[in-house]
Amino acid sequence: MNMTSPVPEELLFQGNSSLGHPLIPGVLDISHRVILYLEQVTVSFDGFRALNNLTLAIDAGELRCIIGPNGAGKTTMMDVITGKTRPDSGTVFFGQTLDLTAMSEPDIVSAGIGRKFQKPTVFEQHTVFDNLELALCGDKRVRHALFTRLQGEQCDRIAEVLQTIRLLPLARQQAGRLSHGQKQWLEIGMLLIQEPKLLLLDEPVAGMTDEETEQSAELFLSLAGRHSLLVVEHDMAFVTKLNSRVTVLHEGSVLAEGRMAEVRNHPRVIEVYLGR
Ligand SMILES: Nc1ncnc2c1ncn2[C@@H]1O[C@H](COP(=O)(O)OP(=O)(O)OP(=O)(O)O)[C@@H](O)[C@H]1O
Ligand SMILES: [Mg+2]
Repeated sequence: MNMTSPVPEELLFQGNSSLGHPLIPGVLDISHRVILYLEQVTVSFDGFRALNNLTLAIDAGELRCIIGPNGAGKTTMMDVITGKTRPDSGTVFFGQTLDLTAMSEPDIVSAGIGRKFQKPTVFEQHTVFDNLELALCGDKRVRHALFTRLQGEQCDRIAEVLQTIRLLPLARQQAGRLSHGQKQWLEIGMLLIQEPKLLLLDEPVAGMTDEETEQSAELFLSLAGRHSLLVVEHDMAFVTKLNSRVTVLHEGSVLAEGRMAEVRNHPRVIEVYLGR
């Protein structure tokens, strides 16, 4: 499969040593380069198939865009990956060994899957820095995190993420005063601080200015390699800019897959989604 950037082995096989769950080994097995594999996944709502025998594979370090008309099943697919919705049939594997359909939502997060919803959910009263600090220390340790001095290593990590999401100059600003786009980046930063292996982003540039959209494209491209990204978007200029592999979903199945230049000329894709 196409890889836009080579991924150093030590990044691919880095396990999260703090994991204590028996189902989740410290090392994610991506020896076959595939980090996420959905096979023949079907989800029905009152007899209606939101996902219909969906089969999809994402490589480690890959940035994949998912496009398709409203109701195609894009969000439902993310719900299945994160354990929010259980499929009627089919399998969903994270790496070679983790069966996501048998794991709880928190365990899926701990295994290294981060999800960003459309609406930013940052703590508006806190500073940008404090938001990242809270995300680093986890909800259960909120008080502890706020009143305890951070260790140097943790500060470095926060600074690194601030740099990545371009909010370093705004570290001491209240999050509530950020623009919509900046809040979205902060929320992505709050996911990044947990070092997820796979990031799921559902319509991440909706409501952003053109400039913010452009900067988001650069951000996502910079994250690929170190992370795998699954990006659902309706903004075709943005998807084109990402220049990654694109999967077109329609009626719960894959209609087409390839580079944007290829799928945009696909007759059925033009018919059901992109128009002439
Ligand atoms: N909890 C639910 N109960 C019943 N039907 C649902 C549920 N969730 C999704 N659906 C239906 O499943 C289909 C797929 O929905 P989904 O939200 O996955 O589409 P989508 O591709 O994300 O669309 P959009 O681009 O509009 O966000 C839709 O017809 C939707 O109405
Ligand atoms: Mg959706």
